[in-house]
Amino acid sequence: MPQPEFPVRLKEKLQGGDPDPVKILFVCLGNICRSPMAEAMMIHKVKSVMGLPEIEVDSAGIGDWHVGQSPDHRTLSLLERKGIPRASYARQIKPGDFGTFDLVIGMDEANRRDLLRLTDWRVGINEEDPSRKVSLALEWADPSSHPGRIEVPDPYYGGTKDFEEVYTLLDASLNGLIARLQEGNRT
Ligand code: 4NP
Repeated sequence: MPQPEFPVRLKEKLQGGDPDPVKILFVCLGNICRSPMAEAMMIHKVKSVMGLPEIEVDSAGIGDWHVGQSPDHRTLSLLERKGIPRASYARQIKPGDFGTFDLVIGMDEANRRDLLRLTDWRVGINEEDPSRKVSLALEWADPSSHPGRIEVPDPYYGGTKDFEEVYTLLDASLNGLIARLQEGNRT
């Protein structure tokens, strides 16, 4: 499966026509396990990669159950084991996010369905269709890294092994995304 196309505004930013930083939002259901892990990993990775534009990263949840909370202790201990600083506290996605962010990256098909439903809030005259900003993390990965898979599965009711798997899948996703951002303006 080919990687998604970059939205028009993001291409403009990568071509230097728009000085605003590239803004990336990772989204999962609760914003305490997967998306805060993706956020922290992405912040950590872009610091050590040359040839990238300025990038801002955030994460949010579809639900509001954990708003204001720290990431799940299993995400925190995994990040600590990998030497990656933790990022932020949980928040719920809001309508304005589809205007603010260039990429809104979900973890599973349920996230994608919810995100596409929420984009209706923001579609307006002269605005790029916000649904073009929505993708799933694994769509950016080299498909040979995760044959036949498209979802980063919810580890909430799982154990340490499930969180390790999330990390491995996100690592491949973020490496693919960073390579695309370095490449710049390929469709
Ligand atoms: P996440 O995991 O979406 O990766 O943050 C979950 C966290 C909490 C719940 C579900 C998934 N929950 O039902 O509270």
